[in-house]
Amino acid sequence: MGKAIIIAGTPGTGKTSITRLLVEKCGLQSVNLSDLAIEKGFIQYYDAERNTYVIDEEKLIDYLENMSRELEGHLVIQTHYPEIIPSDLVEAVFILRTNPLILEKRLMERNWSKRKINENVMAEILGVVAYNAVEAFGASKVYEIDTSNTKPEEVANLICSVIRGHTILEPGVRIDWLSILPPEEVFRFENYLGSED
Ligand SMILES: Nc1ncnc2c1ncn2[C@@H]1O[C@H](COP(=O)(O)OP(=O)(O)OP(=O)(O)O)[C@@H](O)[C@H]1O
Ligand SMILES: [Mg+2]
Repeated sequence: MGKAIIIAGTPGTGKTSITRLLVEKCGLQSVNLSDLAIEKGFIQYYDAERNTYVIDEEKLIDYLENMSRELEGHLVIQTHYPEIIPSDLVEAVFILRTNPLILEKRLMERNWSKRKINENVMAEILGVVAYNAVEAFGASKVYEIDTSNTKPEEVANLICSVIRGHTILEPGVRIDWLSILPPEEVFRFENYLGSED
């Protein structure tokens, strides 16, 4: 059984806030996959057009495998691209989900461009992170948690309790924002395609 507990989700769904509390409450070690790659120089090159680093996945995974081998307990990994982590390293993947209209508000507080906000809200509407995780790890390891109307502390307590085996969640992906959003709201986010900013 793998030792990694993954906290995944679209940007703004609460990975960092929740992981910080989870580490405190549950006494675990954690890494942020992107920060770790940059900190350790596991980078292939900088993609100026997308304003992002292209990660050297092989080096990053080697490092994670060594780290989890040396650890006694679980290693919590926060990321929005969990699918690069080998499945045998992974015990459970918690996918944080947030109602797209609430997510939009959270992302607007970050002074991001409209295009970047819409791209990310659209990814949440389509469940990109959740479905990629199911494809990579199988539905039985994937647990969705709705963080739309909860406090980070409640979610951290829940995940801690699941890790300790005190709470049992049903695995799989069931959240479907498309079925509850008015179509005009979906079109509003879809309109980022082809926009410049
Ligand atoms: N139940 C909740 N769980 C987590 N965050 C919440 C919750 N309710 C509101 N928030 C707020 O949402 C924001 C989530 O931001 P956070 O930085 O944790 O997201 P993230 O998933 O780490 O994003 P990124 O991928 O960009 O790093 C915070 O401002 C947090 O206070
Ligand atoms: Mg974060």
